[in-house]
Amino acid sequence: MDPFDRWERQVWAGSGAAYAAGLARLCAFPVPRLLAASGVSAGDAALDVGTGTGAAAGGLRARGASVVALDAEPDMAARAADALRQAPVLVGALPELPFRSGVFDAAVANFVVNHVARPGAALREMRRVVRTGGRFAATVWAAPPAAGQALVGRALDEAGAGERPRLAEREEFARTEEGLRELSYAAGFSDVRCTTLRWTHRTTHAEWWGAQAAGVGSTGHALRAQPRAVQEEAQHAFVRLSRRFAAHGGELALPHAAVLVSGRA
Ligand SMILES: C[S@@+](CC[C@H](N)C(=O)[O-])C[C@H]1O[C@@H](n2cnc3c(N)ncnc32)[C@H](O)[C@@H]1O
Repeated sequence: MDPFDRWERQVWAGSGAAYAAGLARLCAFPVPRLLAASGVSAGDAALDVGTGTGAAAGGLRARGASVVALDAEPDMAARAADALRQAPVLVGALPELPFRSGVFDAAVANFVVNHVARPGAALREMRRVVRTGGRFAATVWAAPPAAGQALVGRALDEAGAGERPRLAEREEFARTEEGLRELSYAAGFSDVRCTTLRWTHRTTHAEWWGAQAAGVGSTGHALRAQPRAVQEEAQHAFVRLSRRFAAHGGELALPHAAVLVSGRA
């Protein structure tokens, strides 16, 4: 397995409850826009790849679609299965999907393509399982990141909490509208549209650092691998750096940005 994919498997292993408690709410923000861009309507067969705890899959079902969900992490798949009673939820990993070609009317992936060692191959695989004329929609975190999005990474960097693995150079793509457009056309989609979504996520110090301390996501996983003294230093840096995001009532107001891409198969 590619070292990046191996790292990602470790990042998400057993993290369903901790993800549901914090980061899931952040990732849920673009879901309505993602669903609208997917064009899914009643009676469609729709796939949610990297479903996590099932937010996008639930939204697809609310639109009347017949939903299949899939995640690389068994704990996430189990949680999604609980939330999506009666919908099939599979364990599987991009860039390989366990479906015949052209069986879906649409496929979506909310903050998943940025967790795959071969993003181009992942989009080609999503293209393969969607029928010609069907649609896909995906989000990735924008880069350079919005200020609130960069907060935890900066705290880790200040504490010397180590490098997070990067994609192989040949697999890198610009996390911009242009970069996603290029990647999607290269994967075989047409009529590709991209838009940048910007929003401010309201949270608290306790929730946001708590998610990191619980090891959620790449930064949380990197933090947990550090000696205690480095973890404490990172927390001090987080408290200091987060002052500029202080909002009414002791909350944090963290600006985030994501690129939404959609296209026709
Ligand atoms: C940031 S979470 C997003 C979850 C969900 N889409 C949401 O909006 O809440 C990323 C998810 O992608 C899954 N994942 C990571 N690599 C994957 C891969 N190669 N194939 C499928 N799922 C993957 C993780 O297990 C995790 O559930």
